Amino acid sequence: MARLDEILSRYSGSESDLIPLLQEVQDLYGYLPEEAMEAIARFTGLSRTHVYGVATFYAQFRFKPRGKKHIMVCTGTACHVKGADQVMDAIERHLGIQEGDVTDDMEYSLESVGCIGCCSLAPCAMVNQDVVSRIKPSRVSKIFPKKS
Ligand code: FES
Repeated sequence: MARLDEILSRYSGSESDLIPLLQEVQDLYGYLPEEAMEAIARFTGLSRTHVYGVATFYAQFRFKPRGKKHIMVCTGTACHVKGADQVMDAIERHLGIQEGDVTDDMEYSLESVGCIGCCSLAPCAMVNQDVVSRIKPSRVSKIFPKKS
């Protein structure tokens, strides 16, 4: 929490600080932990409901931690046509999680995203900063090996 205090110390606590504060806290933790949201509410004097309401309004904010490998399955048009839904289903079945979740061992987290700019390689996904191209559902367990 020391780093959170350091972030808060750079703001005045006005309502207009809320979004930049949420962004910085998410950069720090990779998501918005409940305790941090409460600290922001206390710091700004805004109600928890207000802080949560603002944070949930914007798609950029996450409320669950990311796994070591964050899988972003592209569901843009080209990938959709090439079977992105089947790829997502196969990953969910293989990892035993749903979109938006993280595995118990924190190894993988999963989300869908719009076009990632590699349409000729559809269906594709990003894993952290790397592109995984032409994903076949039958290869998902090889591409995303589980520990043990
Ligand atoms: S639609 Fe998937 S990369 Fe463009």
